[in-house]
This record gives sequence, structure tokens and C-alpha cells, in this order.
Amino acid sequence: MLLKLTILPGDGIGPEVTEQAVLVIQAVAERFEHQLELQHQLIGGAALAAVNDPLPPETIQACLSSSAVLLGAVGSPAFDHNPGHLRPEAGLLRIRRELGAYANLRPAVFFSALEDCSPLRAEVVRGTDIMIVRELLGGAYFGQPRSIEGNPGSRVAVNTMRYGESEIERIARVAFDLAEKRKKRVLSVDKANVLECSRLWREVVTRIGKDYPEVKLAHQYVDSAAMLLVQRPADFDVVLTENMFGDILSDQAGGVVGSLGLLASASVGGPVGLYEPVHGSAPDIAGKGIANPLGAILSVAMMLRHSLQLQREAACVESAVNHVLQHGARTADLAGKTHAAISTTEMGSRVVNAVKLTAAQALQAEKSLR
Ligand code: IPM
Ligand code: MG
Repeated sequence: MLLKLTILPGDGIGPEVTEQAVLVIQAVAERFEHQLELQHQLIGGAALAAVNDPLPPETIQACLSSSAVLLGAVGSPAFDHNPGHLRPEAGLLRIRRELGAYANLRPAVFFSALEDCSPLRAEVVRGTDIMIVRELLGGAYFGQPRSIEGNPGSRVAVNTMRYGESEIERIARVAFDLAEKRKKRVLSVDKANVLECSRLWREVVTRIGKDYPEVKLAHQYVDSAAMLLVQRPADFDVVLTENMFGDILSDQAGGVVGSLGLLASASVGGPVGLYEPVHGSAPDIAGKGIANPLGAILSVAMMLRHSLQLQREAACVESAVNHVLQHGARTADLAGKTHAAISTTEMGSRVVNAVKLTAAQALQAEKSLR
């Protein structure tokens, strides 16, 4: 199969982690005999610095003509004082919109090798396997009007949280479809006691839920969901929520399972899927070679599964990650006091080696079945 991918390294630790993720893709392509066509393009602060546009037209073109897109991270303090449309983040929001990626899937899975990494007791976090389904193209992130107006000292800022029924419907279906293949439970998170958007959300989600009689639907206010997420994370399964609540809860879920550096995501729904680790650009550690590449590497696994329909290859990457963690590989965010931290590149090479090993086993198993 020809895998035509666009890589958007972006800012901060983005380039370091995508470099390792690309080495993993190359190992997968080589072992499973896929042809790889990669091109790198600019986004975010890197694009602003080069061409004063956080999402240049060439980047959009390249993404739209690929099978899938891998993104590192965007965001850089150098542009903190730029107007909104000239901030790195504007590039990310626009590429999500250009790609029609309304469904952001953010799994938060607890790895048994990392029991000591969670700030929670092992018996609380054990078994945690959450799929956050975050609506990605609506709510306050995109709602109009938005502005800051007036004179310094008496300025007024406005953002608009806006949701249409069809936007709620399509993301709800994504969550219910996923739930059918998991434990058949959806928890819809909102703030229906205060927000009109949430009242409509709850009504529409309840209606769509009737098409999925086997899936048990429950509703929770976001404040209470945040508390339960640290109190009983293992009770969560599919969590369906709007854009900003999903942004917040997914970082929290990262903390719960031990490190935000582990979390991967898939932004899908349009013609081309966008895959990105959940962590940001982390400017404080950028360039030090200590960032955790596993979020980016696990995003590659999601890409193989969701955009390229390569289940076997996806499983191979996931078991490679599991394997290196079982063997004590830890970047600084995971090392704590008990382990020596390895570098970004060392973690990447260990996963690449494990991919080669698991690929060989998978291919051998297939051969003996034939
Ligand atoms: C994320 C990030 C982005 C978001 C930022 C960088 C715009 O926090 O992907 O979670 O808020 O969506
Ligand atoms: Mg976020």
C-alpha cells in the first residue's frame, strides 16, 4: 500500500517528537512492505517565522492531498502578543477546520508498567481505559462574535459558545458508534444547569442515543465529571463532550494515567485525518532532548488504524510501546525517583527496535496460519 503522509512538526517539542514518530512509521512501512511518501510542511510559530502565516496555503494543499497528517505541536511564547489570527494556535484551529476534523478521539489508557507514575494510588487508577470524544469544530473555539473592544482599563472581551443541532448529532454518533465496539456506555459531559448550549446538547444526545438501544447513556455536569475522573477513573469508558470541556478533561486524564506525554489523538470526520499528541509545544523543555515521544508514536498507531485501516500495523506499534515500558524505558516525565530517564531519541530507537521484533512475530504467526 502507498502511504502518502504530510508531517507538520510545528513548534517547541513538536519537531523532536515527530522525528521519532516518523522513524517508527518508516520501520512499520519497511517491515510490512508499504511504500512511504512523506512530505514536511510548516504550521504554527514555525510558519509564522518563515512566512508570517500560521497556516500557509501549501500546507493546506499538502494535507488535503495526503492519506493522513501527523502533527507535532503548535504554540510559542514568541508570538504571545500577536493578534489572534497571527498566533500559532490559529494555524491549528484552521487546519482542523480545513480538514473537517470535527471528531477528536483522545484515549487515556493506563499502562500497568507505569503504576508508580500516576499521582493516584495504583488500586484507583488500575484498569483505566477512557475514550474522550471531543467535539472539535464548534463551541467557544469557533463561535462568532468574538472580540476585545474598548480603551485600556475599560475593555470588554466577548466569546460566543455556539452549537447547532447537526453538529451535536454528528459527534454524538461518533461516540455511540465507538461505544458499540467497547463497553457499550457513553457518558455525555455538559453544563446543562447553566448553559443553553449544554441543554441543547443533552437533548440532542438523548435523542441520538435512542438509535443505539444497546448503549447505556448517562449525563454528568462537567464539574462533577472532573471530580469523578480523579476519584474513580476506571469507571469511565466513552466520554462525549464539547470542544472546551474536552480540551480540559483530556489534559486531566493525562495526569491521571501518569503523564500527558503519553496521550495520542485522532482528529477525524473529514476527508483526511489529523493525528497529534495531546501535549502541547512545551517550550520550557524544547530542544533539550528530554520530551516523551510516546504521545506522537501512539498517534501514529491511531493513524494506521483510523485513516489507513492497517489494524495489524497499529497493533504492532501499540505492543511495541507496551514492550518498551515493560522493560523500564522512561523519559523524564515518567522516570520519577525510581528510574533513570532516557532521552527522546533513545525512547524512539527502543520503540523502533520493538516494532521490528513485534512485526517479525506478527508476520511469522500469519505465515504459520497459512
Ligand atoms: C489541544 C491544545 C489545543 C486546543 C491548543 C494548542 C489550541 O490544547 O489540542 O488540546 O486547545 O485544542
Ligand atoms: Mg489541550
